[in-house]
Amino acid sequence: MKDSLVFKEIKDNRGALVAIEAEKDIPFGIKRVYYIYGTAEKVRRGYHAHHELQQLAVCVKGACTFLLDDGNKKEILRLETPNKGVLINKMVWHEMYDFTDDCVLMVLASDHYKEDDYIRDYDEFVDLLG
Ligand code: TYD
Repeated sequence: MKDSLVFKEIKDNRGALVAIEAEKDIPFGIKRVYYIYGTAEKVRRGYHAHHELQQLAVCVKGACTFLLDDGNKKEILRLETPNKGVLINKMVWHEMYDFTDDCVLMVLASDHYKEDDYIRDYDEFVDLLG
């Protein structure tokens, strides 16, 4: 897997700016943006994969850790700067944990929310990989 992306920071004496362009900086069009914040201590979220959805996650504030599992390989990535993202391709099991109190995790997604695109059972995920 090669799922960590570093975006260009445009810095001047006022501060920094990061731009993420659909189909250029990430390999999909964006139909949805959601964000996770106010995460309680020791919470672990995710525990699912998607049949088709592609996503990019960026900690725009604070930090959290991702576990990505494509059925072959497990990868652990710490997101701790707003110019770094993790690509969550379809059919990648993912879990998020070790959120800092101030973490705001923004996710850009290739499609609207569709519960039937979720695979929430790990054994089913492994079976689907064949
Ligand atoms: P869930 O996917 O379980 O969160 P996580 O990825 O952290 O495991 O989503 C939590 C709840 O929010 C669940 O009831 C579904 C709902 N939800 C939406 O309504 N729209 C969305 O875009 C997302 C991501 C979740």
